[in-house]
Amino acid sequence: MYRIKTVKGDITKITDVQAVVNAANNSLLGGGGVDGAIHRAAGPELLAECRTLHGCKTGEAKITKAYNLPCDYVIHTVGPIWNGGRNREEELLASCYFHSMKLALEYGIRKIAFPSISTGVYHFPVELAAKIAVKTVSKFLNDNPDRFELVEWVLFDSVTEGIYKTEVDKLFMKTNKTINYYNMNAKEFVSDTLSVDFELTQKTFISKLPKGALILDFGCGSGRDTKYFISQGYQVDAIDGSVELCKLASEYTGIDVKNILFNEFSQNEKYDAIWACSSILHLPLNELLDVMHRMMMALKNNGIIYTSFKYGTFEGERNGRYFTDMTEETFADFIKLIDNVMIEELWITSDVRPERGEEKWLNIILRKK
Ligand code: AR6
Repeated sequence: MYRIKTVKGDITKITDVQAVVNAANNSLLGGGGVDGAIHRAAGPELLAECRTLHGCKTGEAKITKAYNLPCDYVIHTVGPIWNGGRNREEELLASCYFHSMKLALEYGIRKIAFPSISTGVYHFPVELAAKIAVKTVSKFLNDNPDRFELVEWVLFDSVTEGIYKTEVDKLFMKTNKTINYYNMNAKEFVSDTLSVDFELTQKTFISKLPKGALILDFGCGSGRDTKYFISQGYQVDAIDGSVELCKLASEYTGIDVKNILFNEFSQNEKYDAIWACSSILHLPLNELLDVMHRMMMALKNNGIIYTSFKYGTFEGERNGRYFTDMTEETFADFIKLIDNVMIEELWITSDVRPERGEEKWLNIILRKK
């Protein structure tokens, strides 16, 4: 998991990164703005090392040590001079971010800070620059999972900071759209699901459990099933990614429902069973694999998992939430990628909500071998 953030401040004073990026010029021999500040703070040795690099083309990047700066490296990149967008400026700015991130990756740098490249002396419009910056970096992070911990933009003035923050917030809203949906619609969602009769499936699940077993309700939503399992004498832990649903479910069930994202969850052989009813179906397929590994790890030997997907082959956004649908075939292919698990039962049901009867669900019970 990585974090992207913006801060208002002086990039030469930032202490939580391994590298800062410099908005340099083709000579790499220093200048005004952020370039001047970085050279002043790093000391004359930086200039001496820069002299050995023989400049840098616009849109590319070179790396040096950071000398007296409170980090290890400076990545020097040369942004385009804005000329009304006629000289491939957008592409060149994206290229600055791409090549800076690529150098960071090659040097094992996991935490990096950028200034607002090209928007000072080089006059690139800040709104457009911020969009390109955030888009390019976020694509790079997604293409290189687990290689970065922190990317931050350190902006000198609050107007610029506000503009970058808006872009970062938009990104956050997009990647967390499903959770955002539940936060926004929590009350309505709870009243819709609490009344749904799910006893048949719940009974199939608990019929496989020893008395008093410890169950994890994984994405507990309203808390409907947690409450039922408690009423049947089981011990239950419950988690959900939506803060608002956690509050409502804690009230409803009387237990402390924890706000944890699936891909941040980590336990070792703790549970007899995991109930992931209509929950992990909101993960994109590439995250589902990681989360299924986490679930398997949290399960005791011989433990079981119940999970469900909408029946079909669709993957993408549907009415504000993300869905990965499954059929018997696609699920069988998926589960082959996980060791030490077998499909114990698999069955198809109609949606229990009367108006949704034509929707089909794939229900699965897995056992850890
Ligand atoms: N920390 C963070 N941001 C800063 C700092 C600082 N210490 N100082 C300035 N900024 P600019 P460019 C902001 O002009 O447009 C140099 O002379 C500043 O407010 O530094 O890419 C080079 O040698 C603005 O928002 O870079 C090149 O010749 C942003 O950093 C030329 O300027 C970038 O402004 C490069 O121009």
